[in-house]
Amino acid sequence: MTATAPGKIILVGEHAVVYGRPAIAAPVWQCVATATIRAAAPGAGCTLHAQDTGQQLRLDEGSVEEPLLLVARLALAQLGLDRPDWQIDLHSDIPMASGLGSGAALSTALVRAIFRQAGSEVDPATLSALVYESERFYHGTPSGIDNTVVAYGQPIWFVKDAAFQPVHPGCALTLVIADSGVRSPTKETVGDVRTAWLRDPARYEAIFDAIGETVVQARLAMERGDLPGLGVLLDANQGWLEELAVSSVLLRRLIDVARAAGALGAKLSGGGRGGNVIALVEPAAVDPVCAALRAAGAARVLVTQIE
Ligand code: MEV
Repeated sequence: MTATAPGKIILVGEHAVVYGRPAIAAPVWQCVATATIRAAAPGAGCTLHAQDTGQQLRLDEGSVEEPLLLVARLALAQLGLDRPDWQIDLHSDIPMASGLGSGAALSTALVRAIFRQAGSEVDPATLSALVYESERFYHGTPSGIDNTVVAYGQPIWFVKDAAFQPVHPGCALTLVIADSGVRSPTKETVGDVRTAWLRDPARYEAIFDAIGETVVQARLAMERGDLPGLGVLLDANQGWLEELAVSSVLLRRLIDVARAAGALGAKLSGGGRGGNVIALVEPAAVDPVCAALRAAGAARVLVTQIE
């Protein structure tokens, strides 16, 4: 039995979303995680092989601190299954620690495959709740946006602890996604922002408010199909992310290169300090923006559409 799950981008609002402000995210189907389950010999137990990291994990051993084991155990408990004889293979072409939601996608594909192997389909709300538990290990204090967008597989307006809303762009958004090649665990940037916020709550709350207002405006621009307006708001969001000290010289260079090559706006996406930048482009600017980002050293460039 095989199941897949997409990567994701945060269009606007990362970090501030951890503090109750809204954010907009969308799935990225150009890169996916895949889980495949096969029956193993009777008595063999359940083994999980994460092909990309070379990890070989047994469900009945190991620390509960391992997020994939944790989520697999939770899914099996939900199904009332105890230690089935299964060989689970996990693979992802979403780079790890790159802001594209690799952890959420792996856990989502895994839970989906476990339910399918047991003869049922998991509903997205249950799926998202189970994956959230693994996100807590990847992220520390996650807002819940990654598990929600990946489990539901549609563009969302998200506020922590509230029901998400689907968002519908007035016209298709074309985004170029460029990987800086620098791995940066979200847990670290989220932790650093928290430390800074604890030291100076007034300053950081004001930045989160400004990001929240940018997200409100971005949704309006998106829904009216105002691409130049949305581009300006992506640039503004990047400015606030720099104030939060989660950008980097390299990310900034990629953003500048994308803008110079014709992007309407660009910003980092996800935890920051490394990982990916996203650039909003008109269809005619896709090729020059991709070429400029590659020439500037981007490790990988993808093009996706939000519709
Ligand atoms: C990570 O994709 C987005 C962050 O806002 C963290 C979170 O919301 O949990 C940086």
